[in-house]
Formats: sequence, structure tokens, C-alpha cells
Amino acid sequence: MQDPIGVLDFGGQYTHLIANRIRRLRVYSEIVSPDSDSDRLRNFKGLILSGGPSSVYDADQPRFNPNLFDLGIPVLGLCYGHHLMAQQLGGVVEPGQTKEYGAAQLDIREKAGILEGLEDSETVWMSHGDHVAQAPPGFRVLGSTASCAIAAMGDPNRELYGLQFHPEVTHTPNGMRMLENFVALCGCERTWTMGNYIESSLQAIRDRMGDRNVFLFVSGGVDSTVAFVLLEKALGAKRVYGLHIDNGLMRKNESALVRDSLLEHGFTNFYVVDAGTDFLSALRGVVHPEAKRRIIGTQFIEVRDRAMEQLGLDPEQWILGQGTIYPDTIESGGTKNAAVIKTHHNRVALVEELIAQGKIIEPLSQLYKDEVREVGERLGIPKSLVWRHPFPGPGLGVRALCSDGSESLGEAEQNAEASAREIARKTGLDARILPIKSVGVQGDFRTYAHPVALIGTTDWQTLERVSTEITNRIPQINRAVLLLRPDTLPPLFVKSCDLSKKRLDLLREADAIATHALEEHGLMDAIWQMPVVLLPLSSDGEKESIVLRPVVSKEAMTARFSEIPMDVAMKMADDISALSGIEAVFYDVTHKPPGTIEWE
Ligand code: XMP
Repeated sequence: MQDPIGVLDFGGQYTHLIANRIRRLRVYSEIVSPDSDSDRLRNFKGLILSGGPSSVYDADQPRFNPNLFDLGIPVLGLCYGHHLMAQQLGGVVEPGQTKEYGAAQLDIREKAGILEGLEDSETVWMSHGDHVAQAPPGFRVLGSTASCAIAAMGDPNRELYGLQFHPEVTHTPNGMRMLENFVALCGCERTWTMGNYIESSLQAIRDRMGDRNVFLFVSGGVDSTVAFVLLEKALGAKRVYGLHIDNGLMRKNESALVRDSLLEHGFTNFYVVDAGTDFLSALRGVVHPEAKRRIIGTQFIEVRDRAMEQLGLDPEQWILGQGTIYPDTIESGGTKNAAVIKTHHNRVALVEELIAQGKIIEPLSQLYKDEVREVGERLGIPKSLVWRHPFPGPGLGVRALCSDGSESLGEAEQNAEASAREIARKTGLDARILPIKSVGVQGDFRTYAHPVALIGTTDWQTLERVSTEITNRIPQINRAVLLLRPDTLPPLFVKSCDLSKKRLDLLREADAIATHALEEHGLMDAIWQMPVVLLPLSSDGEKESIVLRPVVSKEAMTARFSEIPMDVAMKMADDISALSGIEAVFYDVTHKPPGTIEWE
């Protein structure tokens, strides 16, 4: 490949996104291990050091090649990479007093090199704990934010640059311009395309498969549909067979819709299995989200094994196909230096075993959703399929939160609530910590913490500000939700519950109401996805509460809560509250980070 850029993976949640962004600039980019030898690194026209969950002071800091700054190749360090560059070249890195997540304003001192062509002040996306306190000799400070004096630094003579923030995420609006500047500094020619990718992957699929065939999981979502078409194109329809499993965790009527839509689009080589009872019995009594994910992932493989037997398919001749995309791997802790955020259903132990035996093919595993959609469009798949909202493999199994009923609010949580209230009251809102926890992602780590409910009326900007301040400052809280209905919030208690059909049916109804409202108001295209979440919280210990989680995103690694018109949100809340069994309806006003898109 011509003029490649190497991305050194220190385990950051956005590492692969950097490669994705560079490819968007039509320069080929690939991920390499930071301890690659100098001969390997010299093949690149430039190197980007990713962020990561470590601190430069950790004893088990990822291993790296210390000569990488002396190869005469431009280097850009991002977040952890910025700290490593500073520390290695004689600067000083200090742990932050306050960790910082979300948007900040970068005041630019020198609009040259990496920051050429930008405005005096730019919005940038932060997600870090440590910071550079003193730049190394030869470096100049190029930009600062209110809480980070050395947010951008560079030594133009050696073409070494460091940024504390993340130019690779879409929430740094001019981040692409910064990466474009870096690619220009490296002297790369911009001629690479996704068409090249399709051609090389068709050949790679044929080489990998030899005379074997693929039995592919098809959920009906974008990833598995694109994988289906790509595999068929490489191998021919006779050698690819789809398996759709109705796991009892799908949305209302979804499996029937998926079957009709596959048939309508000309797929006939697929098999549908109703396995709802198997999944629900395997999940009985299980409340922890990671345990649920592992069981669901394992069930998929067990149901597939039974389906193969029923169909008489020889396991040596038919290997498993999955529409796994890159975030599934990275969030499952599947690269050397990354932390586990959540175990995606397609990355459980049984699947890892099959991967180790070479018995899985995942043609999209290096791509992000936006790239998968581009491949889908280039392959001629109808827009209605390519642009479907994403739906997670474990489906409503993760969106219905469960509890063993032991969640109580101790002293630390009560103090957290008092601090949150102090922040909220400055804007006329009240705040209450909720007695349940959910998964979030902060500074490349998984968090498992409480949501805070904001009560009152205000505008979106204020909600964003309050939500960001609370989640940045209070470690016990990783999300903020706005109470939509009822108008006041009685004390809520958590009930002990697992994933019952009754609870899933209630969530299916609430989800159908919310999705219908989005369609009716022409809002489906304005948002990326809107999980509807069931929380076992109520005043009587019997009913449940709902959270609406509309988000905008490009590739799901970062997301903003979406601002749908308040009258539409209120109508959804009224209609959902009218379902018997619902106590309260909330609207999630948390970005990712610190929240994730899903709740679990
Ligand atoms: P999070 O919650 O991690 O979600 O911010 C990012 C995107 O991934 C989807 N998601 C999944 N997709 N298997 C999937 O195929 C999974 O286990 C899974 N978990 C989350 C989620 O819906 C969002 O689009």
C-alpha cells in the first residue's frame, strides 16, 4: 500500500478510529504494536501514538520501541501518546486533580503545522486524567484549554506533535483538519479508496476459505447484511447460508420483519430458528450485565450447533460467519492493551475458541459502522437496509436492567447526591441519585455507577452543561437523565428481578411506542439510534421505569445525546406512562463518554 500511516495501539478506545479517519483522508493506515522494531516502523510515512487506559507512571505500562522518536518520521501523540512523548523527550507529566471528559475550548497560540488553518478557538473532545505539566526541550506550547495549559505542543524541526484531546472523534469538529495537516506533514499521497478495500477483501475471503463454506449469523442489521452480501459475492450464493435466531430478546415483531425483508431483497438461502425459550431459561436468575452477555453469546453458538445438525451441515465444511465490526472487538478488551468495556455477544469464550481454531470468518472485523455502510452502498445494498438503526446482538437482553434488589444508597451516594444537587440548583433544577447502576466508559475504562435524575424545566444547553459537570466531578455518577413523567418524582426503590418474558413484553411495547413516534415525526434519519431502556425502579417496588436514549453518532465510539423536539418526547412519555406497569419516563442527557449508548 502506498504511503501508509502507522497507528501505534496503546489500548485506547479510539485507536482504530484514528486509522479509520486517516483512511477517510484516502491514505492507507493500519494498526501496529508499539513495540514493533525500527525496521517495521520505518516503512511508514508517519506514526500516530494512540491514547490508552494506562498512565505513564504505571509499572505495567505498555511496551514500546523507545527509538520511535528518532527515526526521522513525523510523530503525532494523542492523549496517552501525548504524555508518553512528553515524558520520553524530557518533559513532565502529572496526574490530574480532576479527570476531564467531554467538550472543551482550545485557545490556539500558533496556527501552524498540526494546527494550520484553524480558528483562534476550537471545540475539542477531552477524555483524560493525567496531563503534561512541562513540554520537553525544543517543544513549543501550541494551544491551551481552561483546565489544561499544554493541550497542544510541537517541535516543528523534528515534526513531533502532541495533542491532549482527541482529533479523531467527530465531537472535535475540526479534528479532521488537524489529521489532514499531519498527513500533509508526512508527505502522503491521498489516493486510497474503499473500492480497493472491497477488492482486496474479496480475494482475502477466497484465500481464507479454500473450498469451505460459511454458515452466517444474520440478525437483519446492517453489519450482518453487508457481510452476507460480501461473502456471497466472494464465494457464490450456494456456499453461504444465513441463520437468523429469534432469541426472544428482539423488538416487537422484529424477527418476522427481518425474514420478510431478507426475502424481499432476494435472499432465499437462510434459516430461521425460534429459540426464545432456550435463551430465557439460560438467563433465569441472572442479573449482572456481563454474565447476561456471556450467556447470550454462548447460546447463539449452541443454537447454531443444533441448527447445523438439523440441516445436516458438516462442521468441518461449514465454518461460522459473523458480521463483527471493530468496536465489538475493542470494547470487549480484544486488543493487547485495551480495557474490557463490555463483552460483545460475538466475543464470548466459545467464539474466541473458534477464532483460535481458524473456524470463524468475519469479513468486516477491521471496519467501523460508517465504513461498513460505505461498503454496503458500494455493493448495491438498498439504502433502507444500509441505514437501519443499529441494534445490539444481545438486544433487549441488555436494555432490560436486572437487579438482585440489594442496591441501596449508602453514605458515599448520599454525598454524591448532595453535590449533584448543588450543581443542578444553580440552574433551577433538582437532582436525585437513582438506586441502580449502569455501564459507562470514561478515559478508556469501564465504569459501573449510578445515574442522576434531573428534575425541572430548562433548555438543552443547560442540561448538557449540568450533565457534564456532574459526571466529570462526581465519580459515583456516570449518567444524567431528565425526568419527563410524572412531573414530580416520588422516592424510587429497586426491585429484585431477572429477564422475564413479562418484563421484556413491557419493554417491547414501550419501544414500539417510541419508535412509532420517531417515524411519525420524520425523526428516524435525524438520529443514529434510540435505545429504550427498562429500569426496575418504582415507588411501590412493583412497577418499572423507562429511559429514552436518542443519540447522534458517526461510528458509535463517541456519541452525543440527541435533542429531539420536547413536544415529541413528552408525547412519547405520556403514551408510555399510560402502559400499565410504568412509573416514570426519563430522557438520557449524557454523551458517550461518560455514558455508553446502551444501558446495561
Ligand atoms: P455502546 O453501548 O457500547 O454501543 O456505546 C455502541 C454501539 O454498539 C451497539 N452494541 C452492540 N452491537 N453486539 C452488537 O452487535 C453487542 O453486544 C453490542 N453492544 C452494543 C450499540 O447498539 C451501539 O450502536
